[in-house]
Amino acid sequence: MTTRILTGITTTGTPHLGNYAGAIRPAIVASRAADADSFYFLADYHALIKCDDPARIQRSRLEIAATWLALGLDTDKATFYRQSDIPEIPELCWLLTCVAGKGLLNRAHAYKASVDKNVEAGEDPDAGVTMGLFSYPVLMAADILMFNAHKVPVGRDQIQHVEMARDIGQRFNHLFGQGRELFTLPEAVIEEEVATLPGLDGRKMSKSYDNTIPLFGTAKQLKDAIARIVTDSKLPGEPKDADGSHLFTLYQAFASQAQQAEFRAELEGGLAWGEAKNRLYQLLENELGEARERYNALIARPADLEDILLAGAAKARRIATPFLGELREAVGLRSFREQVQVAGGEKKKATKSARFVSFRDDDGSFRFRLLDAAGEQLLLSKSFADGKAAGLASKALQSGAELDVRSEGLSFSVWLGDEQIGDSPAFVDDGALQQAIARLHQALAPQE
Ligand code: TRP
Repeated sequence: MTTRILTGITTTGTPHLGNYAGAIRPAIVASRAADADSFYFLADYHALIKCDDPARIQRSRLEIAATWLALGLDTDKATFYRQSDIPEIPELCWLLTCVAGKGLLNRAHAYKASVDKNVEAGEDPDAGVTMGLFSYPVLMAADILMFNAHKVPVGRDQIQHVEMARDIGQRFNHLFGQGRELFTLPEAVIEEEVATLPGLDGRKMSKSYDNTIPLFGTAKQLKDAIARIVTDSKLPGEPKDADGSHLFTLYQAFASQAQQAEFRAELEGGLAWGEAKNRLYQLLENELGEARERYNALIARPADLEDILLAGAAKARRIATPFLGELREAVGLRSFREQVQVAGGEKKKATKSARFVSFRDDDGSFRFRLLDAAGEQLLLSKSFADGKAAGLASKALQSGAELDVRSEGLSFSVWLGDEQIGDSPAFVDDGALQQAIARLHQALAPQE
């Protein structure tokens, strides 16, 4: 059994070292497992909720795409795409919006935080709250349920959203599944041992604290950021407390056991902070230098990135398009073609086999075709002078009475009394002819 892993990256910023260690690196490693079927995507519709700067959105999409590819995501194995290239996602989002309780969404942390802030400031509770922010969890549920993900690796702040996706999916299953699980119910995965990196000042590395180390800046930018790491004021020669220093924590996230032990011994032996920063720089340069070159090459060829992402979208849509078709069926958005007239005028959905399609010929006469489940033509009727006569003939064929089928050469005709009602196309050989006759009988067998 393969496990479907899915996660989205909101495209509002430039990836930093903390994103790399905490999310990107473990996701790429996980995607290589033999039983993994990974769906990683740029959540650019979500980005629009948080950011109204088009240039920033565009830059971020490009940088994040290049980052994942430069770090070795294999797009033959994983499915890598932009959310906004999958029109089935917003469509599913609407179907889910129609079953998601408003009360459920009222309880979403992100929305509640905005409301609390407004209330505290004496503003209208919903001041500045868009419907995008309010419905954020429904769009996220659509991302997840669209691909029937089993596991969704996320940060702690997103656990509630994955739980809402479960709730909404369950509700939909209950309402429309007729006992079937239309949606797989997802589970959030929090990687406990994954490092939360400290930033330059020791707090969690985060864009909002402006304490990040760039992932693919120039070597100089990397060096400058490392120079800004805050340390204590112990002089060269004085023993340093490795475990009490976030410079050491940063080093640990990228070093082997042996490297860590050696660095610890050096710090305790009085290594100068300047020299320690140099060691960290060397370590990171080793880890990221080659990937940075790949990154720069990718960024320089945005048209190639576009092709890669469009191929990823096409791959994702091979799943999304037919699945959304099933979901539309389930809620009652169905083609009128599949409605078959049965005696009594009552409409009834065809069994899997039969489908009558009536049409008017160029000369104004009325005809119909009978198509099998795969859409292949079994029968083309003769021309009828009026629609009523054509309807009566197609009804008679579905009445369940014994069929009069006569084969001739590699085709057959169907008769009602002494009138030939229609005939089949010519089949390639006798085997195909016999099979088509069998399908005809099946298609016109009385429905239980
Ligand atoms: N909301 C997520 C975040 O901010 C990004 C995201 C969007 C996502 N859709 C998703 C994550 C689906 C997991 C699954 O981190």
